[in-house]
Amino acid sequence: MPQDTHEYVIRPLSAGDIPETDLDRLFGRFYWCRGPEGARSHLQGAELWGAWRQGWIGIIGLALEPDGSLAITPWTPTASAGETGMQAVLLDLLEKAKEIAMSRRVKLVSRMRDIHGDHAEASVNLLKAAGFRRVGLRYVMACDLEDPQVQEVISEAAGPDTGAVWMPVNDPEAILDLAFACFHTSEDSVESDWTREEWAAWFRTTGQGGRGTFLPAVSEICILEGRPAGFYLATESNGALYLSDLGVLPEQRGLGLGRALVQRFLSKGMRLGYKTSTVRVAAENTPAVRLYERYGYRRKASVAMGEVWPCANRAS
Ligand SMILES: CC(C)(COP(=O)(O)OP(=O)(O)OC[C@H]1O[C@@H](n2cnc3c(N)ncnc32)[C@H](O)[C@@H]1OP(=O)(O)O)[C@@H](O)C(=O)NCCC(=O)NCCS
Repeated sequence: MPQDTHEYVIRPLSAGDIPETDLDRLFGRFYWCRGPEGARSHLQGAELWGAWRQGWIGIIGLALEPDGSLAITPWTPTASAGETGMQAVLLDLLEKAKEIAMSRRVKLVSRMRDIHGDHAEASVNLLKAAGFRRVGLRYVMACDLEDPQVQEVISEAAGPDTGAVWMPVNDPEAILDLAFACFHTSEDSVESDWTREEWAAWFRTTGQGGRGTFLPAVSEICILEGRPAGFYLATESNGALYLSDLGVLPEQRGLGLGRALVQRFLSKGMRLGYKTSTVRVAAENTPAVRLYERYGYRRKASVAMGEVWPCANRAS
């Protein structure tokens, strides 16, 4: 796709280059900006690309995630909505971001924050049109581990006695096959046509929440009748205990294992002194959303997620 047309040009820029009026016009409607200064501070530290036509008409920021992937943060999915040709401008900006990620062989993720959901649909549709995968709304959920009610739920027995044996996970690599089997059919899943190798590459490099701060002390595998049946992995994110992965084998679901996994995860985290736990989950993943709500997780934001991962033959 050409980057230049007679109408506009896409080029790199720095936060200081953007006049306040453009910042306000492009980001002013987003709650997380709180004015041009807020928008500017969100853009600081990100690698910026903009579409220019007698002023900035669309901007995309790329920031390095702790796990090495590139996150589009922020961007302007509804910038100048209704203006003829804007869809093409935004698709060109997303194309530029994909091109950069592909050349560095890192995953590109979009984490468009949208607590009120006003622009969520527009951004989801754009991401789909741009060839992103695993596109959809995710909830960011948080659990206050200092809330006495939450503590009470966590300290209760973890559902029915499943007769499970628990083993620590010291290396996420060791549970690759189990994770693949658990996630294959999930709404939070890999693409269903991914091979085991593609899944492994994705899981190793980034996984759900990044492996940079993997916490072996709060990560376990559950053994039922001598065979692995489920697992959870924890990382740390902004000082909070992050539930990066959780899964039960399809044939073992509905027996209370999910509850046991979350209960053990949270009580271990609490003992280690964490005050908050967070998780991200696909909005349509009802079993997981309900399970988290049961243990005191509440929705804090919705994010329009999408990602591109340069697996062989699946670059776009
Ligand atoms: C989410 C998951 C771990 C639940 O495991 P599970 O062992 O079936 O869960 P449990 O039997 O302990 O059920 C726990 C709660 O989950 C909810 N739940 C489970 N299955 C459900 C379903 N089909 N529909 C709605 N809620 C459901 C319920 O709230 C249930 O509690 P309740 O029975 O007291 O109402 C499992 O479905 C799974 O592995 N899914 C695929 C991986 C995944 O999506 N992980 C989450 C990524 S963020």
